[in-house]
Formats: sequence, C-alpha cells, structure tokens
Amino acid sequence: DATLLFCFFLIIQTITFPALRCNCSTAECEKTGSQCETDGACMASTSFIDGREQHIRLCITRDNLVPPGQPFYCLSAKGLLNIHCCYTNYCNNIDLKVPSGECFILMPPLLSCGSWGPVELVAVIAGPLFLLCLLLLMGAFLYQYHQRAYSHRQRLEVEDPSCDTLYMTKDRTLQDLIYDLSTSGSGSGLPLFVQRTVARTIVLQEIIGKGRFGEVWRGRWRGGDVAVKIFSSREERSWFREAEIYQTIMLRHENILGFIAADNKDNGTWTQLWLVSDYHEHGSLFDYLNRYSVNIEGMIKLALSAASGLAHLHMEILGTQGKPGIAHRDLKSKNILVKKNCTCAIADLGLAVRHDSATDTIDIAPNQRVGTKRYMAPEVLDETINMRHFDSFKCADIYALGLVYWEITRRCNSGGIHEEYQLPYYDLVPSDPTIEEMRKLVCDQKLRPNIPNWWQSYEALRVMGKIMRECWYANGAARLTALRIKKSLSQLSIEEDLKV
Ligand SMILES: *[C@@H]1O[C@H](CO)[C@@H](O)[C@H](O)[C@H]1NC(C)=O
Repeated sequence: DATLLFCFFLIIQTITFPALRCNCSTAECEKTGSQCETDGACMASTSFIDGREQHIRLCITRDNLVPPGQPFYCLSAKGLLNIHCCYTNYCNNIDLKVPSGECFILMPPLLSCGSWGPVELVAVIAGPLFLLCLLLLMGAFLYQYHQRAYSHRQRLEVEDPSCDTLYMTKDRTLQDLIYDLSTSGSGSGLPLFVQRTVARTIVLQEIIGKGRFGEVWRGRWRGGDVAVKIFSSREERSWFREAEIYQTIMLRHENILGFIAADNKDNGTWTQLWLVSDYHEHGSLFDYLNRYSVNIEGMIKLALSAASGLAHLHMEILGTQGKPGIAHRDLKSKNILVKKNCTCAIADLGLAVRHDSATDTIDIAPNQRVGTKRYMAPEVLDETINMRHFDSFKCADIYALGLVYWEITRRCNSGGIHEEYQLPYYDLVPSDPTIEEMRKLVCDQKLRPNIPNWWQSYEALRVMGKIMRECWYANGAARLTALRIKKSLSQLSIEEDLKV
C-alpha cells in the first residue's frame, strides 16, 4: 500500500531520475518563482504554533527520506502539525487543514459578530455550552462503562504502544518515560510523535555552550532539566545525522549521553532543529578537569566509565534486537560529559559511522579527515587510514581515548602532587593547530604527550601510563581495544579496592 507506493516511486526515480517540481514557500525559493526541484518528495505542512497558523511548502531531498516508507520529515504531530508528502509535480499545491485539537480557533469569529443582539448572543453562547455539557455527561457515562468492562478483562493485557496518551497524559517524568520505552523492547528511544510533543513543551532557560553547529541550552521539561542542542538551519545534515545515530537500536548505555528527542520546528521563515538529551550539570570532561583535580578513585572511575561507553559504542550486538558497531570519530574531552556520580557519558555522535556487518560496509561515505585536528590519529593525519575497513575507525577512536586519559591522569592528585590542566600536545603546537603541524609532530617526529617519570611510583598512574602508550601506537591495529582497556581498568579498580 503506502509503503509499496513509496518504494515504487523511489525505484522509478532511481531509474529515470526526473527532477520533481514542487511548490515552495520558503524565502530561498523566491528567486526561482516559488518553486523548487528535488529528487525526493514535495511536502506541504500546516501547523498551529504559538497561536498562529502556518503553511509551508517545500522540497525534500531523497537522502532525507529516511526511514523509507515512513520518512521522519513526513510525520504529522497530533494537534500541532499536519504534514503531507507526495511524489508528483506540484502535488503539494494543496491546502491542508489545521491540525485537529485546536477548537478555540473557531470561537473568535463567532464572538466578534458585533451586529448580534443580546438574545442571539446568549443563544450562541448558551447553545454550544448546553451541547458541551451533554457531551461531557455522555463521556463520563461511557468512561464508567468502559472502566467496568475493562476491569473484567485480564490485567496483563498489553496496551497499544502507538497510543499517544499512554505516554503523555499521566504525570510522569522523562526518566520514567524513557525507562519504560527502553525496557519495553524498542530500545532506540521515544516514538517520533512523543519526541515532538516533548520538544515542543520544553522551556529554554539559559545557554550553556556554543559550537560550530549552533548552541546548547539548558531547558526545563516537567520539572526536570534537559539539554537542548539547537542547530542552525545550515547544519540540517548534522542535526539529522546525529538524531539518526542516537536512535540506533540498543544504543542506550549509562556511559553514552541519553538521547530524548529530535524535532524540526518550522516557524515559517527558518527551521529550528532541536536535539534534546539528558542534562549533566558538571558539563564536559574538559570543563570538569579544568575546575577540579581528582583522586585515584576519581581518575579510575572517569577512565573506566569512558572505556565502558566506548566499548558499548564500538561493540556489535547480533540478533534482531542487536546493534551495529559504531565509531565515534570525534572523541575528545570536550565531547565527553561528566555525570553527577562522576562517571562519563560520551556525547556528540554527529560524526559517527555505523558498520553494516552483513555487507561489511559503512553506512555513510566517510569523508577523509573529520574531527578535531589535535585528536586525530596518525593514520588520519597522513591519510593512510583504510576507510573500507570499519575497524580502522575504532582504532582511531582508541588513539583519541589515550589522549583523554592523559588529560585525566595529569589531574590525579597522588601524594599531594598534581599538574595543571592542559590539552594534549599543549607544549608542542599552537592553540588551533593545522593538520600539517599535527602531522609533522605525530607522524614524522612520532611525538606523543609526555608521561612523567614520577607516575611510575604509583601503581594506578603506572597502569594508566601503560594503557596510554598502548593507545598511541603508530600502527592502529596494534592498539588496545576499548573492551581490553575496560577489563584492565576493572582489574585495577579491584586491586585499588575501589567500589566503582
Ligand atoms: C503552485 O505552483 C503552480 C505552478 O507554478 C502555480 O500555478 C500555483 O499557483 C502554485 N500554488 C501555490 C499555492 O503557490
């Protein structure tokens, strides 16, 4: 049916590649006569946001039509947004109705009819009120009847998870909600319409960070804090990619930032792209290490949790409820968050790649050198990395993890000594090094951050130093795996008699 039809159009398009023409209402299309061309779909949407009705028509490119059959972009949100995607020329030249559930739009024109006398006015107001009462009474009666009928049925009956109200009406916190969903088997996060509803009821509080993609805000939702990453409209691809990665099935892990919702709000002139996640007040590991030194226990806790998160990310889990291997490609202390219990949560998955083990391919065409230059592995810097081989990306992550460990270990306070916070290679390159500068240093001169001699006198520091060296080998394949590091650190925490 709908899916089939969609596939059919997709196939036709792949064969013939005709440019689809659509009506377009965005500012960009003014030059082209309010039309646009695409290889994907035409879209029309009507929304009722902030008391205003908004109609938008635009083109959606083919690579944005995921998942197939039920593209992310073509989903309506009850009471908020009515979206229609179609696949013939100018097929979005239609006027959608305002989404239902906003009955008050009908009232103002009625009340503003000034020519009516008092009797008519009373009739106009009292009539509907009377009807409303009648409806309420009937509703209450039906509800009671339903309750009685329901209690006769089995308690264990499974409720339909596609029901919006199941998640949203009860007074539950986000944590309950996500907990339910991740244990109920779907594992990849909230259903899209719930994500939208959550995102649209968040109240932004303060800006907590800025990056190349946009801004990060702290927001409130039902009495709890959430983090909202707002992408500029130019960064639509990054937003989409990151949302897509976070919704990989079975990704949830205590040491990976908890994803809550993705939402694209179109306010008529530009699109606001939101990514909502858990909020961690300590901020990034970079901020944390700048502010505090850690003791041996704290160091091991941070290092072990980061390794656990990375091991989960890298790991492929087989089966229908499985997860593909994922490589991060931009691991650094600024992309790791510190939770309240002083463990790490890996964040910023926007550059990650997923491995499809069935075909042994990578899910996007990986462009050569992405990520942060300072943390780039030698094989990335000199472009010798074998990009057809997924494991090479994992090995590059391990190199970066070694650098993060060096940052943590320097801040470890043992015997009253600890060093000030520094970025890796702080003494060897300027603040914003070029790829060429990094390549000379890391590949040609084969330099690595300095491991001080005094670390040898403390078992924990000695082990950390050893792990770092084994993360920094020039040959990626010789490096430790995240799982290996996790095991070594678990062992260390037992020896140090810590409850981690
Ligand atoms: C859609 O495009 C067609 C063809 O250019 C045009 O005739 C029509 O008026 C447009 N409709 C809207 C609502 O802009």
